[in-house]
Amino acid sequence: MQPEERYARAYGARADGYASVLDPTLEPILRRLVDLAEVRPDSRVLDLATGTGAAARIAAEAGASVVGVDISPGMIDVARDRSPANVRFEVADAARLPFEACSFSAMTCGFGLSHFLDVGAALSEVLRVLDAGGVFVECSWGNEGASPAFSAALQLLQEASGGALHAFAGILDEDTWADVDRGADSLRAAGFSTVAARTESFAGSYANADEAIAWTLAWPDYGETFAKLDGAAQQRYVDDARTAIGEVADLSWRFAINFYAGFRPLDGG
Ligand SMILES: C[S@@+](CC[C@H](N)C(=O)[O-])C[C@H]1O[C@@H](n2cnc3c(N)ncnc32)[C@H](O)[C@@H]1O
Repeated sequence: MQPEERYARAYGARADGYASVLDPTLEPILRRLVDLAEVRPDSRVLDLATGTGAAARIAAEAGASVVGVDISPGMIDVARDRSPANVRFEVADAARLPFEACSFSAMTCGFGLSHFLDVGAALSEVLRVLDAGGVFVECSWGNEGASPAFSAALQLLQEASGGALHAFAGILDEDTWADVDRGADSLRAAGFSTVAARTESFAGSYANADEAIAWTLAWPDYGETFAKLDGAAQQRYVDDARTAIGEVADLSWRFAINFYAGFRPLDGG
């Protein structure tokens, strides 16, 4: 199976859970993403790696004309189901966007760059389909977040899986984008101008241990790992995670999110 296909299937199989469990926590982050793209009623926006379409819907609230694309047909189905008819969705690989040059005035991308197998090709496509002077805004996980309950749930999943915590190991690159200097340099090297990068904090808390466990397993990277355990091991994991989170006794989370903004150069670059 091609790595892109792995993403398409893993996300597609968990698209409903992603929307119901993860979308609510990600919403303020994606609102900020759209905010930084300065979307206006006359904007033509492409939301890249749109997933369940949350950022696309937020951009449409501003009156913009919006298209969302994702490699996962399952995610796109859920995005369509949850969105008003004026938001258009298509299945597409970031490295081969099915749009003419200069089709969009702004592009958003929530937690997408880490997933692109050929990130150079994807960024070339971003530059091609953006207007000269158009902006691309992306958000990625930073390094400085803290969630004792999530950490406990991950630690136990790591143990239960014999150390194979990440189902996407070898294809997901979160390190480049977790480091704002490295991430910004990568955008500059790809040809973006006036690249800016900043880290912002978002905080909240899980209602209880079961919500923290559900949140952890709703991420396809960890959900796939959990799915590989047999039934008894899954039950043991959930029981152990409840106990460990109870002992940690801290349901708060704080995410450090890196926001990147870069422009297509005016000289056509
Ligand atoms: C972490 S999710 C982010 C979804 C959404 N943007 C959000 O913020 O919730 C990453 C998304 O990237 C998509 N993806 C992975 N590789 C892709 C590619 N080459 N082209 C387009 N989408 C891709 C996955 O299917 C998944 O929906």
